[in-house]
Amino acid sequence: MKKILVTGGCGYIGSHTIVDLIQNGFEIISIDNNSRSSTLLLEGIEKITGKKIKNYKVDLCDFNDTHAVFEENDDIAGIIHFAAFKAVGESVQKPLMYFENNLLSLINLLKCVELFKVPHFVFSSSCTVYGNPDNIPVTEETPTKPAESPYGYTKQMGEQIIGEFAKANKHIRCILLRYFNPAGAHPSALIGELPIDKPQNLVPVITQSAIGKLPGITVFGDQYPTRDGSCVRDFIHVCDLAHAHTLALQYLIHNGNTANPEIFNLGTGSGITVLETIHTFEKVTGVKLHYTIGPNRPGDVVAIYANNDKAKKILGWDPVYKLDDIMSTAWKWEQKLKDDEKLFTGKNIGLN
Ligand code: WQD
Repeated sequence: MKKILVTGGCGYIGSHTIVDLIQNGFEIISIDNNSRSSTLLLEGIEKITGKKIKNYKVDLCDFNDTHAVFEENDDIAGIIHFAAFKAVGESVQKPLMYFENNLLSLINLLKCVELFKVPHFVFSSSCTVYGNPDNIPVTEETPTKPAESPYGYTKQMGEQIIGEFAKANKHIRCILLRYFNPAGAHPSALIGELPIDKPQNLVPVITQSAIGKLPGITVFGDQYPTRDGSCVRDFIHVCDLAHAHTLALQYLIHNGNTANPEIFNLGTGSGITVLETIHTFEKVTGVKLHYTIGPNRPGDVVAIYANNDKAKKILGWDPVYKLDDIMSTAWKWEQKLKDDEKLFTGKNIGLN
């Protein structure tokens, strides 16, 4: 059984990917310093798969601590690197924190990949590398434009760092996966998105507003040159995204990739506006949402969605979840979190 290191394994996409990897026969270890995650999702993974995941609570920005994990696991067959900060709005406020965390962690990890000759490396990149594209949908050949946020720059720079690393280490095969907007939760509602503080992404803002954790939703702008004035995004279910990582790893292991690194867009191929997303949630759940129109959010891309032909053709990837499934699974997860909170509170005061 091949051992795969997942960095950010306690996080949203990392935890869902671990489930998919286990269900496809891989052995997993995780590195996650839990700065933006909790081990709650590891418990969910165990309930779904029956496997207990070993997480090394290590900050990848500390080279020595990272190196020690590789010394203890000299049989790592591949790495999927998720661990990074990822909020566009926050990155505009705190650029240095984003550059230091996202780039230093990547460089330390690649140093260990080189030292320990890990043969396969999959990088969590993002559609934000395209900036504000002139034409949509974007393909992998669409030229990247200046990023609209420091977060986007950390993904662009990360791709460049890996590109030069791959040139100097041709035997180490790399793939860059450019996610569009990950959303939704595992159908079991045992894992999902767990914002540690106030959520910044649209779908968790919607579900927290619907359950009453947030007073309402501010739509960041409705005067954009789009069909209803709000931004356009390509929401991809996190389980579809997770499976794409398994397929990418299998593709590398079977010596598939020609280019090094090879790039794939992971989106559904259809764009939806922010307002349409809100209305879809209301239609699927029957819950009326309260939203107001606010100013544009600095760093936002106006409109983007994927051309995903390459991932479909080469990886054999075929997203199965629809936008309605994103809304229904995200809502089921939010309700589960509330039940757990109630349960927890009940235990606290001796009710059960
Ligand atoms: C989506 C749209 C907001 C919140 C995300 C991830 C990033 C990357 C790409 C993977 C924008 C609007 C949001 C709110 C709103 N994914 N919005 N009110 O910025 O597209 O980036 O996907 O790597 O990691 O952050 O996602 O959900 O923050 O915003 O109107 O309260 O929803 O303006 O148009 P974004 P998002």
